[in-house]
Amino acid sequence: MTSLRTRWLLGRNRVLSDPAFQRWSLRLPLIRGVARREAAAMFRNMTGFVNTKTVTATVDAGVLATLIEAPADVATLAAGAELSDEAMARLLAAAASLDLVEALDDGRWTLGERGAALARNRGALAMIEHHKLFYADLADPLAMLRGGRGGGELARFWSYAGAAARGEPADPDDPGTQAYSALMAASQPMVAEQVLAAWNFGRHRRLLDVGGGHGAFLSAVAGAHPGLELMLFDLPPVAAAARQVLADRGLARIAVHGGSFRDDPLPGGADAISLVRICHDHDDGVVEQLLARAHAALPPGGQLLLTEPMAGTRGAESMGDAYFGFYLWAMGSGRPRTAKVYRAMLQKAGFRRVREVATALPLVTRLLVATA
Ligand SMILES: C[S@@+](CC[C@H](N)C(=O)[O-])C[C@H]1O[C@@H](n2cnc3c(N)ncnc32)[C@H](O)[C@@H]1O
Repeated sequence: MTSLRTRWLLGRNRVLSDPAFQRWSLRLPLIRGVARREAAAMFRNMTGFVNTKTVTATVDAGVLATLIEAPADVATLAAGAELSDEAMARLLAAAASLDLVEALDDGRWTLGERGAALARNRGALAMIEHHKLFYADLADPLAMLRGGRGGGELARFWSYAGAAARGEPADPDDPGTQAYSALMAASQPMVAEQVLAAWNFGRHRRLLDVGGGHGAFLSAVAGAHPGLELMLFDLPPVAAAARQVLADRGLARIAVHGGSFRDDPLPGGADAISLVRICHDHDDGVVEQLLARAHAALPPGGQLLLTEPMAGTRGAESMGDAYFGFYLWAMGSGRPRTAKVYRAMLQKAGFRRVREVATALPLVTRLLVATA
């Protein structure tokens, strides 16, 4: 029998797709506002790609880097980007529509509110650069989907990321290995800031960060909690690089362990384990095994912190299922998961209590804390 919800949805869609209803809704003052908002949302969905390209062009043309130093006129900005004045004026007008730049009364330009927020955000700038590969795959999204997971540019250029996620050995000499870890390190401060503000690590004695990369997250934790003992676990080539990076940073006290959470038990002795932007990269079987290994490595009462952007985040729904859904498909493994799905996986792994701790920017990362 057709459910009430199905009948309601089918009826609603019949009405909304009727051109006569659409014309009528624009004539009625009471629902005209709704119709306008819906039209604007539809337009944004259809043209968001152009906004993305405007941001990329503004960054690549050095406009933000120049304007963060001082206001400049069109000719100066044009010369810096090897563009004609006319082309730069067109780019600036487009950037102004996205609040990246703003015109001054004397004809020069300065940063807009969003441009000012972006200009020194190394993580966001690194992601804008990195997205060029992903968007090359998305030029033909159906071809990307038909080609199966991991068949495109993103997976080829970032072979290391895909290989690591699939559990294949990573080549330490592959420039991709270094570039991938550098990208992760550049975008890490945004995540660490959110997690450190949401969770008091001072309550723990020893923290193990699994998949800790070059130790960017642990460096931030070490700065905030100098008394906390810290351990990092990552694939052997990454662990070797992390030892060097951490020694250079004066953080040789962080114990680094090389291994794979697919094949090896996690080192014991920690009363807290963090998984920062790890689980969504992996398929369900790998995550289930990883959570079980984390549970085995923790003492009773020990806590697992699972933090990453999640599907179903209110106000950021497309970040989960559209952005990460396609990104992870292009990369070749993993999927975005809701907090509810993780909660069930954590319980299945043996954790007895799982709660979500609110972060200030759930778009960047959410935080689940599970007690062993
Ligand atoms: C998306 S990065 C996240 C790095 C870091 N936690 C962060 O948020 O910046 C995933 C990390 O997991 C590591 N990794 C992937 N597969 C692994 C495995 N089987 N065992 C251990 N580490 C692994 C990668 O080397 C990489 O450092």
